[in-house]
Parts: sequence; structure tokens; C-alpha cells
Amino acid sequence: MPSWRRSSNRSSGSASGSTGTPTDSPSPSAGTSVTSSPSPSMRKRWSLTPSKNREAATELATSASPSPGSRIVSAAGKGVPTVSVSPPEAANDATSNSTDSNDSSSPSHQRGRSSKDSPSSSSSSPSDELGSQPPSMTTGSTSASIESLESIQDLHQRSVAKAALIAAAASGGTNKLSGGVLSTPAGNVVIGAGLGAAAAAEAPTSHSSSADGSTLVHSEFGYCANPAFRYESSHKNGSLPSPHEEEPPYYTVLTTYLSYAILIVVGHIRDFLEKRFYPSTFTHLVEINGYAPLNSDFDSFYTRRLKHRLEDCFARPVTGVCGRTVTLLDRTSQNAFDTFELTGEKTRCLNVSAYNYLGFAQSHGACADAVERCLNTYGVSSYGSRLGVGALDLQAQAEKLVAQFVGKQDCCVVSMGFATNSTTIPAIAGPGALIISDEYNHSSIRFGARLTGAAIRQYKHNDMEDLEHLLRECISQGMPRTHRPWKKIFLMVEGLYSMEGTLVNLPKVLELKDRYKFYLYIDEAHSIGAIGPRGRGVCDYFGVDPARVDILMGTFTKSFGAAGGYICGDKSIIDRVRLANHANVYGETLSPPVLTQIISSMAGIMGVGNAAHEMALLPSFVHLPPRLLDGSEGRERLRRLAFNARYLSSGLRKLGFIVYGHRDSPIVPLLIFNPAKMQMFSRMMLDRSSSVPPSRRLAASEKDLSSRELARLNDPASAEALHDDGTFSRPPIVVVVVAYPATPLISSRVRFCVSASHTKSDIDDVLRASDEIGEALHMKIGTGAPGRRWTIDEVTSRSLELVHWNGTDAI
Ligand SMILES: Cc1ncc(COP(=O)(O)O)c(C=O)c1O
Repeated sequence: MPSWRRSSNRSSGSASGSTGTPTDSPSPSAGTSVTSSPSPSMRKRWSLTPSKNREAATELATSASPSPGSRIVSAAGKGVPTVSVSPPEAANDATSNSTDSNDSSSPSHQRGRSSKDSPSSSSSSPSDELGSQPPSMTTGSTSASIESLESIQDLHQRSVAKAALIAAAASGGTNKLSGGVLSTPAGNVVIGAGLGAAAAAEAPTSHSSSADGSTLVHSEFGYCANPAFRYESSHKNGSLPSPHEEEPPYYTVLTTYLSYAILIVVGHIRDFLEKRFYPSTFTHLVEINGYAPLNSDFDSFYTRRLKHRLEDCFARPVTGVCGRTVTLLDRTSQNAFDTFELTGEKTRCLNVSAYNYLGFAQSHGACADAVERCLNTYGVSSYGSRLGVGALDLQAQAEKLVAQFVGKQDCCVVSMGFATNSTTIPAIAGPGALIISDEYNHSSIRFGARLTGAAIRQYKHNDMEDLEHLLRECISQGMPRTHRPWKKIFLMVEGLYSMEGTLVNLPKVLELKDRYKFYLYIDEAHSIGAIGPRGRGVCDYFGVDPARVDILMGTFTKSFGAAGGYICGDKSIIDRVRLANHANVYGETLSPPVLTQIISSMAGIMGVGNAAHEMALLPSFVHLPPRLLDGSEGRERLRRLAFNARYLSSGLRKLGFIVYGHRDSPIVPLLIFNPAKMQMFSRMMLDRSSSVPPSRRLAASEKDLSSRELARLNDPASAEALHDDGTFSRPPIVVVVVAYPATPLISSRVRFCVSASHTKSDIDDVLRASDEIGEALHMKIGTGAPGRRWTIDEVTSRSLELVHWNGTDAI
């Protein structure tokens, strides 16, 4: 580990140290625009739609999709991407429900545009409300966001066209291609100009996968049918090497410390003056009438003088489903972020800020339908604590399924992930026990460990030598003063560390466990559902028998799109936890809809099966479609997530950024260092125009556009559109920036959270945006090692090479 990182104050053991900031919230810390409201010129730009191409909307049907009855309704024009997809007629009601709302849940701007073109796009879905007005126009990004997000629909259309082309070839010429329109026995497909040979050369796309555009809503789950954009998350070669982490140049370290020094000095000068001239603003910090101040001076200073400057990057209000995209409620501040006002505008953004690993944050689809049926059967609440009012059958079913999923004998579910740790650890450890904890463990583990009264020791993050050294010292010395042996020893680690993107070195930990005989407790909040070929966490990833781990803890807030947490272990341990865990004894149990979301998403990931005894694991009202029951959709989601994670992580490294973590981690921390750049990065990702020359930012009318830009606007499926020139494909992107105390002071970072719901082109967008902004902010301080730096075009075109790269050979 670089020496400057060791200065981290996280090792100080402060409970607030690791996760005390809002940025560690599992909910997306979404963003808002720096520009408060759209300027008239931008509104004009919004209206700059190629209406002449939209007038002749033609309904075209195709049999290209293997899903029988699936239908594409397209504004033909020149491939204008207004696509509405109907479900297979014979599909179960879960499918039809999701499809009904397909259009209505598309980004609001899509519907704003398509409503006049395509009558089929009208919908009565509640989420219609979001689309009742055009989204706000973040400078320079409006057309961009429309084009890019709509292009997902467009991609779908193209994929169908490609499949049709291949079907045409296979059918020996019964289908005809003329003038960009493919005639098939069952109908026509419009193929955008420029698609041509490239499309025909690519593999046929799959329509029965999780990425099926006919059953999922693209704004919640993107359509990405190319089977090459998949990867399997696994590590089967013994001990896990530490990830390659570059050190920043000295001037970066120096300027970062200098920045903080200036902020602190200026902050103290301001405090000194304001305490004298505006004492009323400091009443919370001074003694009044003999009462000590409630607030800590340092916390207040840090919040007022440092964090406050970045306030617009945090806790941005959002609405709707936080899926692949998220809708921000735009806000503005007139008083340097003391308060914010909503402008009434909304901006739909690409969402790389949520822990929606498998894309189950959805208001449509089989899981959402099951939840709806559950509400009709059970209502909302479980009406009390488990020991007080009894446990619901749903709870027992969830526990059985979770135990089976993680490969342990028994399970206890708890209604809050944080409480799962903080109340279970005191139930199993007490005075006389020793808890050894990774220095970067989550605050719920630290908090729980403190409540036990046990002795707590920390070792350096993921440093197995340090761990072994500590184990030898603690075991040889025994308890303090008496030197008697410890009653029991626990090692507490996380499967995947959410700030670092690092995976626990489980094979080495197990080797130490066999030698030193300690109980192993793994928090899989971020690894369950996200890691491993079957999504079953770090044991699955390393090919280790879960029986070798004593306690497996996890949360449902991330991969499962639900809430709460679980503790799994041998029956004897879980029986004890059920009785002694305060959250289980006194806390409200998980609500029925949440339990249903857990059951249906988990059953989908594991492919629970069709046999009677397998179906018995599900409540009678949960009807999952075959692709969820047989696990094909779950696998597809896992493989998309693994591809996206490796592509983004490797791509950013090759662009010259300093990136932490293992490349299979769906959390990708990109180091920013300087505090001012944190804010700038977050804002510029949202306001993409700020990284292009001013002459290209405020195109107000058609005459301001280059012929290429105009061509692209007129024909989004043209070659120009496929080979993006960087001007229009600029969706606003919401990111989470993280700083002290959640990270060491020096190593502030942006944490990209990728999801199975992202498409390859979404990741291209994130890479392109990072490249532009990184260049503008001088953040590309890495070497691109091992090997040299790549250009953004190299990165996007050699994505497969990057994903399959072993990370150690120079490329
Ligand atoms: C490692 C870890 N454990 C536990 C939790 C708490 O989970 P929840 O947010 O579901 O309460 C989190 C939250 O992010 C986490 O990262």
C-alpha cells in the first residue's frame, strides 16, 4: 500500500470514520445541474427536433424476435428511435404488465417526443407524471441526453434488424433487403442507413434474455443483446493478488494537502471573524446559560467549512425508480448552498451511483408484479416484532431460500442491513472474546463490535501478513493483564469493500483460519448477488465451500432491490442469534412486499427450478416466468454485471486514471485527490457541455450546427450516430463522490457503481465523459500501466480485449 494512504485516519477506529457521510448511503446520491434552469437558448435547442423526419410514423411488425408476438412500432422516418414494444401475446400476466408500461416508463423526454409520432406510446402508468413535462435542459446536454438515452431504444431496433438480417441470410433469401427496409415473411424492419455490413457480420442477438427489450423497461434496465458483452465473475487460482494501484505524483499529494491546509486556515479565519461579528450563527457551538454546546466543534467546522462547499453534490433529490437512469428534481441555491429550492424541472440521467448491481431496482417485471400481488394478499406491514406477534410464513420462506442460496444450514432475516451487523455481533461475542477486524470494515461492524465489550484489534486493509502477525501476537499474549486464553476469536471481514473496490483474499483467510482456529464472519453486503458465477458471493467467486465460513452476513439493499439483511450459519448459531439479536427480538420484521421482492429476485438469480419441491420454496402468489425459474435471466444479469465492471475498471486504468480495487468489483473507485476537483467532477458529469469548447455548447438553432451534427440529429441511426463525435451523445451522468471521513483525507474519489442494467454503450458514455473531464481537470495522472495509456477510441473499440485482460501483462 502506498505510504501516503497509510496516513488514513480510518485506522484510528472512529466509528464515523468509514461510513459516516451521506455518500455511503446505499440509496443513490443523485445529482442536479449546476445551471439552475434552462436558458431560452437551451429551450430552443430542445425544440430542435428533426420533425420533418418524424411526421411519417409507420407501424412495422417483425417476426425477427424469437418471442412470439413481440412487435416493434417504429417512427420510420430515417430510423427515428421512437420504439414501442409489445409483449408476446401468450406471456403470463407478469410479462404483460411490464410491457404495458414500457413506453410510459421510458425517459420522459422520449415520451414527450414520441407522443406526437406514435399513438402507441400513450400510457396511463402512474409514472406518466414524470413525463408530463420535458426534462430540464442542462447546458449542452439536452439533445445529448435525449439522443443517448433514446439510442437505447434505437439499439434495440437495430438489434432486431440485425437478427432479421441474419434470419434472412439463414432462410436462404426468402427475406429481402431493399433501401434500408428488410422485408421478412412476417413484416418489415427499418434499418438505419450505415448499419449495413457491420450489422450483418455480428452475431445474432438474443431476445429471450434479461436484456429482452420486450419485457423490460429500458430506462430501468438497458437493452444490450450482444452476447460478447458478457463475462463470468470467478477466481479459481488460489490466493488473490493485491490489485495494481498506482501512486500519485508528488505534486498531486502536495497540492491536495495544500488545498486542505488553505481551506482549514481560511475556515478558521472566517470562524474567528464571524464569531465576533455574527455571534447568532454560532449559538450551537458556544455555552449558553451554563449549558455545554451540543455540537462538536470539529464536526461542525468540517461540515461548515469543507463539506458545505460541495453540498450540491450530495443528497440530491430524485424521483421514480433509481435504475439504469434516475430522474433528478433540479434545484438551485441562491445562498451558497445554505438552502436549495426546487426549480420544478427534472433531468433524467444515467445512474452510476446506486448499488443496483443486478438491476432489480425496477417498477416493472416479474418481481414487481409479485410484490403487487403480495400487497393485495398481505398488506404493507408485519405489524410488530417477531417474538411479539409471530413470524409471517413469508419470513420463514425467505429464510429457507436465503439459507439455500448462500449454502448454509439456517438463516435469520432482519429488517435493516446496518442492524443485522450491529445487533448480531453482540449476540455472538462478549467480554473475554477477541474481535479482529479489517481496518476498512463498515461502520455497522465496528459499531456492533463496540457493543460487545470484547477486545477489538484491527489489521491493515486486506494485508494478510499483517493479519497473521496480529493473530500470532494476540494468541500468544492472550487476554490483557491475565494472559489467559481468549474465550473465542472472531475475524470480521467484508466480501467486497465498498470504498476500495477490493475483494477479501478468502483463500488466504481460510488458510489462516485452519491454522489459528478463529471464527470467520463475512459481511457480504456488496458481494452477495454481485460476485461469483452464480452470484452467491465470495465463496462462489473463489470456488470455496461455504461450510468453511462460520457466519455469512449480507444485505438485500443492493443486489436484490429490497431492504434488510440476513445472517446465515449452522442451525445452532442461528437459533442463538434469533433469541439474542435485539433487532429480531424488538425490531419490526421485514414487511411482506419487501420479503416478496427478496424471494422473487433471489429465486430468479438462483433459478429456483420448476419441480414441485422447488416451486414450494416460493409463495403461491409468486409466478415467475420460465427464464427466471430456470436461472437463465439471473445468469444473464450476472454476466452483464461482470462485463460492465471489468470494462469500466480496466478502461479507466488504460485512460490514465488512478483506479483502486479488483477489476471484478462492480464498485470502481477513481481517485480524485484534490478537494475542489471532487465538486467539479460531479458537476461536469452532470453538465457534460462544460468539458467541450464554448463554441459548441450553446447551439441555439440549426444554423449553429455543423453538417455532421445536423446529419446526426436528422438521422440518429446513421453512420455519424454510430460513430459518435462526442457532441450529442452526452447523457448527464450522476456519480457519487466520496471524501473524508469516509475515505482518508487525501484520497477523495468518485465511486462508480455499475449495474447489470447498464449497456455497453452506457459504460462507453461513462468512459468518454471521464476522459473529457479528466483531461480538463488534469486528473489523468496514471501511466495506464501495465502497458501504455490508450485513447478513448481505443478503449471503446477494444473493450473485449480489456475485459479479458489479465491485468498484469502489459497491453
Ligand atoms: C459492508 C456493509 N455492511 C452493512 C451495510 C448496511 O446495510 P444497509 O444499508 O442495508 O442497512 C452496508 C451498507 O452499505 C455495507 O456497506
